Amino acid sequence: MDIRFLGHACFELSDGSSRVLIDPFLSGNPKAAAKPDELDPTHILLTHGHIDHILDAVEIAKRTGAACVGVVETANWLKKQGVGDVSDPNLGGTVEFDWGWVKLVQALHSSETPDGTVTYASGLVVSIGGKTVYHLGDTCLFGDMKLIAQRTPIDIALMPIGGHYTMDRHDAVVAAELIGATTVIPCHYDTFPPIETDAQAFKADVESQTSSKVVVLEPGDSHSA
Ligand code: NI
Ligand code: MN
Repeated sequence: MDIRFLGHACFELSDGSSRVLIDPFLSGNPKAAAKPDELDPTHILLTHGHIDHILDAVEIAKRTGAACVGVVETANWLKKQGVGDVSDPNLGGTVEFDWGWVKLVQALHSSETPDGTVTYASGLVVSIGGKTVYHLGDTCLFGDMKLIAQRTPIDIALMPIGGHYTMDRHDAVVAAELIGATTVIPCHYDTFPPIETDAQAFKADVESQTSSKVVVLEPGDSHSA
C-alpha cells in the first residue's frame, strides 16, 4: 500500500488498483504536488468541510466519478453541487468498499460547508491493502485518540502538527503516544505562516519519547507500507 503526500492534509492511498484521495486542497495551495486535473482517484474521503480540505473535491469527483464519503452535512453539500456518488455517514459510521472500509471517528474541531452549514469535523480510520491508516483530520489533542486506536490498531497515523488551527507539534507528540502507530506522518504545517513548524523537531521528539517512527514527507513524496 502506497501513501502519496500531495500537500497540506491531502493524501492519496493506493493498494495498486484503487486510489483513495483524502482532503483535496490543490488549486489553492502553491505547495501542492499536483493539479486537480492530474489526479484520477476512484474514491474521495473528506474529514470536514473547511476549504483547505474540500476545495477541489467537487471538480475531481465530477470528472472522475469517484465515490465520495463525508459527514452527512458535508455529503449533502456535495450532492447539492451535483456530485453523484456520495455516502453520508456520521461519526461512528463505517462505509465499506471493495478495497476495504472507512470509519468516521471523532475530531475536536469546528466545521462548516462552503455554503455556511455548520457541521461536525471527523477523523478517518481507513483499512486498505491490509493496513489501517488513521487520518486525524483537523483536531486538538483529546484522550479518546487512545480509544480509537484500541478499537482498531493503527499502522500509520496522518497527523496535523502545525498548531493554530489544530494541535501543535508538542501536543502531537502526546497524540502519537496515545495512538501508538508504527509510523506517523505529519501534515497540516508550513502551508501558511500561522502553521509553520519544525517537522524534524517533531520527529526527534516522537522517536525519543514514543515507540513510533516518523516519516516526514515533502509534497509529492510517497511512503510504502
Ligand atoms: Ni479545518
Ligand atoms: Mn485545516
